[in-house]
Amino acid sequence: MAALMQYLMTWEQMEVSILSNDILLQARDIKKSYYVGTPNELEILHGIDLDIKRGEFVSIVGQSGSGKSTLMNILGILDRQTSGKYILDGVDISKAPNKALSSLRNKHIGFVFQTYNLIARTDAIANVEMPMLYAGISEKKRRARAIELLEMVGMGERMHHTPDELSGGQKQRVAIARAMANDPDIILADEPTGALDSKTGRLVMDIFHELHEKQGKTIVLITHSNELAAETPRIITISDGNIIAEKINDKEGVA
Ligand SMILES: Nc1ncnc2c1ncn2[C@@H]1O[C@H](COP(=O)(O)OP(=O)(O)OP(=O)(O)O)[C@@H](O)[C@H]1O
Ligand SMILES: [Mg+2]
Repeated sequence: MAALMQYLMTWEQMEVSILSNDILLQARDIKKSYYVGTPNELEILHGIDLDIKRGEFVSIVGQSGSGKSTLMNILGILDRQTSGKYILDGVDISKAPNKALSSLRNKHIGFVFQTYNLIARTDAIANVEMPMLYAGISEKKRRARAIELLEMVGMGERMHHTPDELSGGQKQRVAIARAMANDPDIILADEPTGALDSKTGRLVMDIFHELHEKQGKTIVLITHSNELAAETPRIITISDGNIIAEKINDKEGVA
């Protein structure tokens, strides 16, 4: 009996450790409502269940207004769900106090937005350094890492340019370098190619593929484009606040 108990315990512990190693992000029955408690309360997300494994490249597709950005803001700890559970890298974000959220976000998540969200009148290098500044990294290390990241995205020559001196694609490359600054567990990209022409969008997608393949980054890509989604190994379709389909893509790159 004792041996059986021990076996069971070991097995259970093993299962927990497999879970915590493998699954980076776990969302359970996530609901989001606005105007909570008022007669016009509006539920936008109706109970999202989602697991994302470490090292996955997943796309989320859906029509305008389907709740993609709302979901991304919750996964990115920019906003809180109204109910449901969200565990990121073993940390129960749903239970974390408000004051812990920004440091959790800064440590775990890199964001890339459609409109870049770079800080104006601040050069590329300082933009990339910003998350490291908040993380308390020394000036010397910040600078070295920022230069390395800007070179990685092909922006080494323009690191002293401010956003208004850069093209859209160049701005997005700086934003990707910034997203990588604190070596986040996960990159959340909300329509990162939405404001770019297809050639420049292609370049940005290539950078994501490289981060995924060569550095093993976990990436969630929100896109309207079925063609871009078809390049990722897993495609999740969201409609009207629900996940309605999930597709594993064994022929990546074939639309
Ligand atoms: N702060 C808010 N207050 C009330 N409703 C909101 C708020 N933010 C978003 N919504 C509503 O939630 C729904 C989902 O919006 P969301 O921005 O998540 O859509 P989306 O899928 O990202 O769309 P798009 O592809 O156009 O970016 C929309 O109907 C929107 O009007
Ligand atoms: Mg959106």
